[in-house]
Amino acid sequence: MKSEILQMGPMMPHVETALQAAYQVHRYWEAGDRAALLAGIGGRVRAVATGGHEGCPRAVIEALAKLEVIASFGVGYDAVDVTACRERGVRLTNTPDVLNDAVAEITLGLMIALCRRIPQADAHVRAGRWLERGYPLTGELTGARVGILGLGRIGKEIARRCQAFRLRVAYHGRSEQPYEPYEYYADLVAMARDVDWLVVIAPGTAQTRGIVSRPVLEALGPQGCLVNVARGSLVDEPAMVEMLQSGALGGAALDVFEDEPRVPEALLGLDNVVLSPHQGSATKKTRTAMGDLVVANLAAHFADRPLLTPVA
Ligand code: NAP
Ligand code: 8YV
Repeated sequence: MKSEILQMGPMMPHVETALQAAYQVHRYWEAGDRAALLAGIGGRVRAVATGGHEGCPRAVIEALAKLEVIASFGVGYDAVDVTACRERGVRLTNTPDVLNDAVAEITLGLMIALCRRIPQADAHVRAGRWLERGYPLTGELTGARVGILGLGRIGKEIARRCQAFRLRVAYHGRSEQPYEPYEYYADLVAMARDVDWLVVIAPGTAQTRGIVSRPVLEALGPQGCLVNVARGSLVDEPAMVEMLQSGALGGAALDVFEDEPRVPEALLGLDNVVLSPHQGSATKKTRTAMGDLVVANLAAHFADRPLLTPVA
């Protein structure tokens, strides 16, 4: 008899194939009557496989009386109700580290695109305007100061790449990391005042909600640029949009949004932003490794081996 699991949304084909080979999989997002599905399987399902967007809400966790583990695709698990997991003694796994390089890579890509105006220059060539005139001069990253909000696994890889570009790196977090070679700011506003680029790569939690507030954006100022590759919830999005429109904030490169995939209409018409559809980890290599880790965590759980990457 195969163990029964609940899959919250579509997953990569190689993940779905592996899950179907090992378990009896119930497909939550396809159920016409989800409450009826939960009521029917609630006494049998031992695991949930989910994605960073679907997560797992309290209602599902509470409906599954035999639930033991949730395996989430992605390092950020803000869409999983962690409190409900703790209350019920449900384990949670995520997919850290395997995506550090891909997310760091796109961060630098977004910074270069914004600074050197690569999307606009591309449009200039495509429209045949190069035949009339060259493209206007742009800014340059080299020598600029960057402040990283969240010098964690991904933040450190971003910092290394910034050093390779000869940027001067500082960081903010709740605590200083004395063995890191970068200047620490206990005060985010102070760091924003001192840097040209603010890169946001801290988790989406109750504590980080709105941490990039209007005062932080004001400190960054008209010459400053914001890069958000973390979660939309960290930034006061209405303030950011208003300040980008007025020029009170110099520019923004955004991979994540408060209500994604819906993006504030006002951003679409702005020339001082680069927009990216939450694709920090979206390479074949990285997403394959993330999927493998979801499958491996579930396999470890059902074989009574230690989880590979437990959150809790
Ligand atoms: P991590 O290793 O846990 O690092 C998180 C960092 O954030 C730590 O340095 C931590 O430092 C800091 N931090 C946590 N809470 C904070 C707070 N309240 N105030 C200030 N700093 C705080 O996480 P990671 O693996 O680097 O991933 C970071 C996040 O990136 C994920 O949670 C996810 O949301 C996002 N992400 C996005 C994409 C994408 O596709 N765009 C891909 C992967 C990940 P202290 O403990 O010192 O505060
Ligand atoms: C994924 C991410 O796109 O890992 C994360 O936290 O944001 C991304 O890698 C997302 O989680 C996929 O569900």
